[in-house]
Amino acid sequence: MSHVTSRTQVAIIGAGPAGLLLSHLLAARGIDSVVLETRSQEYVGARIRAGILEQSSVDLLTDVGLGDRLAREGDQHRGIYLQFPHERHHLDFMDLIGRSVYVYGQTEVQKDLVEARAAAGQQWVYEISDTALHDLDTDRPSVTYTDADGNPQRLEADAIAGCDGSFGPSRSAIPGGTTWERTYPYSWFGILADVAPSTDELIYAWHPNGFALHSMRSETVSRLYLQVEPGTDPDSWSDDRIWDELATRLGHGQDGWELNPGPITDKSVLPMRSYVHAPMSHGRLFLAGDAAHIVPPTGAKGLNLAIADVALLAPALAELVGKGDARLADAYSDTALRRVWRCTHFSWWMTTMLHHNGDPFDAQLQLSQLRWVTSSKAGATGLAENYAGMPFEI
Ligand code: FAD
Ligand code: PHB
Repeated sequence: MSHVTSRTQVAIIGAGPAGLLLSHLLAARGIDSVVLETRSQEYVGARIRAGILEQSSVDLLTDVGLGDRLAREGDQHRGIYLQFPHERHHLDFMDLIGRSVYVYGQTEVQKDLVEARAAAGQQWVYEISDTALHDLDTDRPSVTYTDADGNPQRLEADAIAGCDGSFGPSRSAIPGGTTWERTYPYSWFGILADVAPSTDELIYAWHPNGFALHSMRSETVSRLYLQVEPGTDPDSWSDDRIWDELATRLGHGQDGWELNPGPITDKSVLPMRSYVHAPMSHGRLFLAGDAAHIVPPTGAKGLNLAIADVALLAPALAELVGKGDARLADAYSDTALRRVWRCTHFSWWMTTMLHHNGDPFDAQLQLSQLRWVTSSKAGATGLAENYAGMPFEI
């Protein structure tokens, strides 16, 4: 069967936050796009992932008309708690650097994006298969795929944005290039629970049994994580065992603090790795978000980095396909990678400071580092600046 050919200015592969936000930013600049996605819209919308937005992400979403519900339902946090046995310290980012973070789930960001793009008549095709990229070295690249009815399609464009996450085909369409990778010897066991958070702001806890994190999604929903062995089967832990271990690691009973357990509604185990691919572009293909880089979640950076990438990519593509000016597009990869490496370092640093790896020497270094970060204004300011996020120019 021959392909049915259609045309747009930018073909966007992937309808996650990077792809949909890019389509939104391009539309604001008068550039047409079509978004292609393997999964269903419901599936993408239901994936439980990130929970924290940096100040810069919130500012961008607000500036482009996506901030109404975020302003109403997002929860501004002044900082985080860092904990190690017998001590819990609050780092107040507002006092330290005048910036803050917001609890607003990726599911909510995704919902706002879908609603805004649907209202604007965005062209998107869900449940496709056989995605393949072609002619990237020409100014008429294309994407072929099979639609949900089994019809072969070809989408021609002036440029392609690879926003297809860590398992999509875009990254491997770039010939050559370099990848840097680190796999950590632990995983996170994440739960979602129908219970009010036991804390006003996130608690990151170092413990000899392993790291734990108390996060949240709303006044009635908590999100918590435990460091576990890679390959742990989530069903092998009973709910009681999960809550007992969280209570131990998060310091239940310490200075009168209590962890309130509740019904667990979701359990998953996620591996931890760092990954960077360079360059982030080749010819008329540009990568954004998890398609180009992965960070371990300890720094809460993955979603924010995807947003930062497309904030940079949208004006570059608008100049390229709207005006034929390639200067920003040519600079995109190098500019984006500067922030990517800053976030990669910060995520690695938070991860290696907080996770137990069984080495007693490392454990002493971690505790020394935690004492420094929680007692020195210089140490705390460095963490705050990275966690709350640098402004998007950097
Ligand atoms: P994705 O969201 O992965 O979207 C890519 C899309 O491309 C997917 O919908 C996929 O189906 C689609 N696709 C793949 N292949 C194809 C193909 N062949 N054709 C068409 N489409 C395709 N980040 C934070 O900032 N803060 C956090 O607190 C945080 N916590 C996290 C917790 C968990 C449990 C996980 C898993 C991640 C977390 N992250 C966090 C990371 C964050 O979720 C990701 O970085 C973010 O989703 C990246 O967005 P993206 O659009 O680049 O990729
Ligand atoms: C989350 O709420 O899912 C979350 C928060 C902070 C992190 C990672 C995940 O560092």
